[in-house]
Amino acid sequence: MQIERARELGLCFGVRRALAMVQDAARQYGTLQTLGPIAHNRVLLAELEAHGIRSVDSIDRLAGPTVAVSAHGVGSDVTTTLRERGFTIIDTTCPNVASAQRIAAKMAEEGLTIVIFGDSRHSEVRGLLGWAGEGALATLDAASLAQSLTVSAPTRVGIIAQTTQRVEDFVSFLQQACASLVDRSREIRVVNTLCDATRRRQAAAAELARTVDAMVVIGGRASANTRRLVETCAAIVETYHIETAEELDAARFLGKKRVGLTAGASTPDSSIESVEARLGRL
Ligand code: F3S
Repeated sequence: MQIERARELGLCFGVRRALAMVQDAARQYGTLQTLGPIAHNRVLLAELEAHGIRSVDSIDRLAGPTVAVSAHGVGSDVTTTLRERGFTIIDTTCPNVASAQRIAAKMAEEGLTIVIFGDSRHSEVRGLLGWAGEGALATLDAASLAQSLTVSAPTRVGIIAQTTQRVEDFVSFLQQACASLVDRSREIRVVNTLCDATRRRQAAAAELARTVDAMVVIGGRASANTRRLVETCAAIVETYHIETAEELDAARFLGKKRVGLTAGASTPDSSIESVEARLGRL
């Protein structure tokens, strides 16, 4: 069986940058706490724990004096609370996410009601909402957007996207959202906040998926960008989403001549290597 990697896969520059920052800090301070997981991958988090870097899920449980904010970023209210409580903050927010936060804050300041195309439960989106001012909302469903806006009836709307959404999904959301908002809005401003690293990984995965008998996508089940890769590949070819090499089911690959490999932006190199090695032994 031939195994081929997508031409772009695995850790993106934002997660690599965050990892370098927390590892530096842990070396300096001995141990380090992060507010929420630094990225959504349990293998990566286990590797960090081995270096004294632990995730804590609420501000009240932080021991201090130093805390790292994850690559997904947090709302301005969270940063303010951390400062008021005297924490030194290591801010690993990805520059792409920080840019989306600034765009949301600027449009909100200008009086626009912000709509975020994204999963309202995802930490990046919760953080973006914290910059997006009053009346902001996050949704994946343009139909529910129309209902929500009936309540507040804004006349000026600013639309951005969670950075890891797929281009085609954002375009389809925008078409429906604009159609339902055009009657009641003087202005509909769209800023493309999609992450280029994610877009390139999705394009590379789709390109490879068209040439193989099956795709294996490696990454955390809670990782939004990994799930988008799975959706992209599954629309083209038989696709398996796994977090670790142990989850590979040999029976699924019987008779397959070419298998493609891709991985989410928070999947450590070690996971990709071990999956590739196990596939090679099948
Ligand atoms: Fe940043 Fe994109 Fe990675 S938003 S954390 S470079 S997936």
